[in-house]
Amino acid sequence: MKFLITAGPTREALDPVRYLTNRSSGRMGYALAGAARHEGHEVLLISGPTTLDIPAGVDFVPVESAQQMYDAVRDLIGGVDIAILCAAVADYRPVAVAEQKIKKHADKLVIELERTPDILGSMRSVFGFTGKLIGFAAETQDVESYAREKLHRKQCDMVVANDVSRADIGFDARENEVLLVFAEHTIPLKKDTKEQVAMRIIEHATIIKP
Ligand code: CTP
Repeated sequence: MKFLITAGPTREALDPVRYLTNRSSGRMGYALAGAARHEGHEVLLISGPTTLDIPAGVDFVPVESAQQMYDAVRDLIGGVDIAILCAAVADYRPVAVAEQKIKKHADKLVIELERTPDILGSMRSVFGFTGKLIGFAAETQDVESYAREKLHRKQCDMVVANDVSRADIGFDARENEVLLVFAEHTIPLKKDTKEQVAMRIIEHATIIKP
């Protein structure tokens, strides 16, 4: 099967030397790409900037901004069987990107932000993707119910949900403990390394019924 996986953070430029980003390390997405490849699948990894090594045998497309990630997914989604959108895409970006470095003048500086395109939310409605769709949900409360609501709203087949209020798992951590949320049921995976959790997610992703 052919997998498309998004990973890592995005960078939203403010000026030529500054950007807004988040603490995503990219580890979960790279582990998913490695696990899918290990199982013999064709893998396309679209990633924001990380310090990780690209898993062997994976087709790699580097991007920076949410818009670039959106464009790459839109252009490359054809022929994909399973899409796993794991990237921590910035929800907002500066409305204007200064052409020159912003100089300090006043005591306060207000930066106006606008929404970035929602890649996961565009998969069915805009890109017409008909394969298996897996999203991630980072929540700080009511993890399962928010994840299931996201599953329905974005027409996913599975949502991988984790509790980001915990420092030991998820964002920028080596381990993860997630719930695999489906329309009718939930499968909790035990806390483990992101590589092990990735293997379980790939197993479940490949057996989703149409
Ligand atoms: N995502 C995306 N494009 C965006 C923002 C998010 O594809 N611009 C994807 C992420 O890769 C992840 C999922 O959406 O798979 C989770 O996004 P999140 O921001 O948590 O969900 P929202 O539905 O936007 O809800 P909220 O931010 O209110 O929790």
